[in-house]
Amino acid sequence: MSKLRIPDVRKQFPLLKEYIYFDNSATSLTPKVVIDSMNDYYLGYCANVERGAYRLAQRATQEYDLAREKIAKYLVNCQPQELIFTRNFTEGANMVAFALQNPLLDRIDEGFGYASPLIDNGKNANIVATAIEHHSNLMPWIRLSKALGVEFRTVSPTEEGLLTPEAFNSKVDKNTIFVAFQHVSNSIGTLHPAKQIIDTIKQINSKALIFVDGAQTVGHMPVDFNYLGCDFYAFSGHKGPLGPKGTGGLVVRKGLLERFHPFHLGGGTILDVTLEDYKLKNDHRQFDGGTPYIPGLIGLGTAAEFLEEKIGINRIREHELSLSERLLRGLQAIDNIEIYGPKGLEQRSGIVSFNIKGWLSHDVSLTLDEKWNILTRAGHHCCIPTMRFLNILDDYGGNVRISLHLYNTEEEIDTALTALRKLAG
Ligand SMILES: Cc1ncc(COP(=O)(O)O)c(C=O)c1O
Repeated sequence: MSKLRIPDVRKQFPLLKEYIYFDNSATSLTPKVVIDSMNDYYLGYCANVERGAYRLAQRATQEYDLAREKIAKYLVNCQPQELIFTRNFTEGANMVAFALQNPLLDRIDEGFGYASPLIDNGKNANIVATAIEHHSNLMPWIRLSKALGVEFRTVSPTEEGLLTPEAFNSKVDKNTIFVAFQHVSNSIGTLHPAKQIIDTIKQINSKALIFVDGAQTVGHMPVDFNYLGCDFYAFSGHKGPLGPKGTGGLVVRKGLLERFHPFHLGGGTILDVTLEDYKLKNDHRQFDGGTPYIPGLIGLGTAAEFLEEKIGINRIREHELSLSERLLRGLQAIDNIEIYGPKGLEQRSGIVSFNIKGWLSHDVSLTLDEKWNILTRAGHHCCIPTMRFLNILDDYGGNVRISLHLYNTEEEIDTALTALRKLAG
């Protein structure tokens, strides 16, 4: 299938006629093709999934199942049966925390009771996260370690904000039960060597479960769950994948998923219910408690197909890196600008963050909007510990972030650089 050129892609996003949209890490714009597919559902085959015998309901179920297949295949390379639908990244992380705290309660053999826990929180057990996580990949693990009564440890990045396998070496040990870390930092844009980190952790302790935050990778670069070899990989549908708001995914390795307790019990999750107990479906459908966000997830399936078939996710990565390079070069040439994150481009994503000396980050962002219609994000980006690590919370209130996607252009970067030169001058 022939691929679209980046300028042609822009026609899918009417807001781009008016704005320079540089806030893709918070959420991305939604292409018309995705909105059309949601409308098709509402206007053409609006029915609930999984439960109906009539043909419209069957069609809705088929499209919903197909969406899961497309998202699994194009965005994360996992089996559809390994993919749980969520509202966003945060819900996926909290689902994992819940399941680790609450062993599976189900009809097991002849009885109703708890299966063996996914993790063994015995004496000296510890949980490991890192010092530069988004709050959504930190708070659930702090609470989990308190609930289980186990030690909570954090891995520090290098000065440039890079997580290295060596840094995990000194924190992970035989008593580690769970490790969570980000694939790309949303506040400074670092792309961490996830595969090497996962291999290192597994070498030290093959039983430690590993959770990776893919909120800033999926849709921006090829992600291969199988190759990575982690146990959980969570992402948002509304960011990199260009899906509807309120969509996301959690990939759970097969074998674990069957022992994973859903926190939404109810319609759609069971094989049988009596007045004393219940038997859950033994697959991903046990996580679809209640009526799911059917049009949104069908829209996310369309987005996944659009990204890979019409654009090519590896081309998105190349495009974002080449724009990042142009932006970084331009910023480096402006006096009074401090740039965060690694020097090497291969350790970067399409996220570039910086400050102008003497300016609060919010004031820079407001001025870029008011004078030039340039939409950036400023502040702590839900990463207060990272801002403290960089020592920029008090002086700047965080940093200014330009986060790119496939529809951004060199001209937009040049307009931003001209604006920033004026502000910094
Ligand atoms: C790295 C990272 N993790 C987690 C999240 C939370 O994502 P969501 O708001 O979709 O739950 C974000 C959101 O910006 C993020 O950038």
